[in-house]
Amino acid sequence: MAASALSAALAATLLLAAATAGADEAPCTRRPVVFAFGDSNTDTGGAAAALGNYFPLPEGRAHFRRSTGRLCDGRLVIDYLCESLNMSYLSPYLEALGSDFSNGANFAISGSTTMPRDRPFALHVQVQQFLHFKQRSLDLITHGENVPVDAVGFRNALYVMDIGQNDLSAAFSSRLHYDDVVRKRIPAILSEIKDAIMTLYYNGAKNFWVHGTGPLGCLPQKLAEARDDDNDLDDSGCLRTLNNGSYEFNSQLCSVCDRLTTQLKGATIVYTDILSIKYDLVANHSGYGFEEPLMACCGHGGPPYNYDLNVSCLGPGYRVCEDGSKFLSWDGVHYTEAANAVVAAKILSAEFSTPRVPFGYFCKA
Ligand SMILES: *[C@@H]1O[C@H](CO)[C@@H](O)[C@H](O)[C@H]1NC(C)=O
Ligand SMILES: *[C@@H]1O[C@H](CO)[C@@H](O)[C@H](O)[C@H]1NC(C)=O
Ligand SMILES: *[C@@H]1O[C@H](CO)[C@@H](O)[C@H](O)[C@H]1NC(C)=O
Ligand SMILES: *[C@@H]1O[C@H](CO)[C@@H](O)[C@H](O)[C@H]1NC(C)=O
Repeated sequence: MAASALSAALAATLLLAAATAGADEAPCTRRPVVFAFGDSNTDTGGAAAALGNYFPLPEGRAHFRRSTGRLCDGRLVIDYLCESLNMSYLSPYLEALGSDFSNGANFAISGSTTMPRDRPFALHVQVQQFLHFKQRSLDLITHGENVPVDAVGFRNALYVMDIGQNDLSAAFSSRLHYDDVVRKRIPAILSEIKDAIMTLYYNGAKNFWVHGTGPLGCLPQKLAEARDDDNDLDDSGCLRTLNNGSYEFNSQLCSVCDRLTTQLKGATIVYTDILSIKYDLVANHSGYGFEEPLMACCGHGGPPYNYDLNVSCLGPGYRVCEDGSKFLSWDGVHYTEAANAVVAAKILSAEFSTPRVPFGYFCKA
């Protein structure tokens, strides 16, 4: 098959899959409430609110056409997941103005890690913030006040977690040996994720949605680091060792979710393999309509990666591509809105989830 015909066939399959996922999605029978925890993959303006960071255009240019605090040209995966349930986008928990928490709150903050656990805005801190939010809500209810989410809302809510990428990235950038990262650091990161799920569970949560990490070795940021030779590159041009690290992280995370499902009575914990989704996107990029799988749209230095540690997107002298929809990577670390749309459609297909439960399961009777 000619490349363009193959590409058209794959695109058609994907569109069909997305349409089918939408059609299968029965309407929610109660108002969906989502609480999200994580890093910049999920941050809808938290770092901007908390730290006063300002991420001007071209951030947000593809959809919002203004700065929203997202590190992306448009929508994040979490935004598409919310759209699939007809809910409003999640307001950052710390956004003082214009927030609407009737569909839940977003505790994710760019740059967040799981460790050290007591430093803002580590996962543990995000969970503490959630507990504060919940306690405040319940206190206000006892005083007869209206709150966006009531006790039943908290109980039926979906608790979304996507974290670990920054921990893993830092671990591999440190002097730690690969085996030490896999045998010591990854279990320590996962122990924090496990602790967060258990804490939420013992505070009444029962529905969880956990994302694995993406292929670290396909990020322009990692690929642009100096290397002696190209022996570590795979057929897609990604770094094998780092991707193997992501794979190890995910397989251990999947086991943690599995064990917790057995241990926590009445809990549903869905794990989704983001690595397979994103690696397929890189390997088969042209089939999805992308031209540049490994080059950042916004950055510095030009091909092959357009990534320069000294000149990030928005940094002095940065360059931004004309058409971000041809790129998987927005800034060398974060994906473009176009890539996020495909990733979200794949997540919504439930094909990469264990157990195979549709995203909207928690808002149906
Ligand atoms: C979202 O809205 C559309 C159109 O009104 C409807 O068909 C669909 O079932 C809704 N989805 C959910 C999950 O409520
Ligand atoms: C991947 O990781 C496993 C376990 O950590 C190791 O045995 C294997 O050699 C690694 N493979 C590559 C290609 O790095
Ligand atoms: C690329 O697409 C083909 C055809 O759909 C599929 O068989 C293959 O598994 C994909 N590659 C990856 C790495 O997912
Ligand atoms: C970045 O800056 C450092 C220190 O100024 C310099 O040594 C390095 O060569 C620069 N890297 C690039 C890719 O320009």
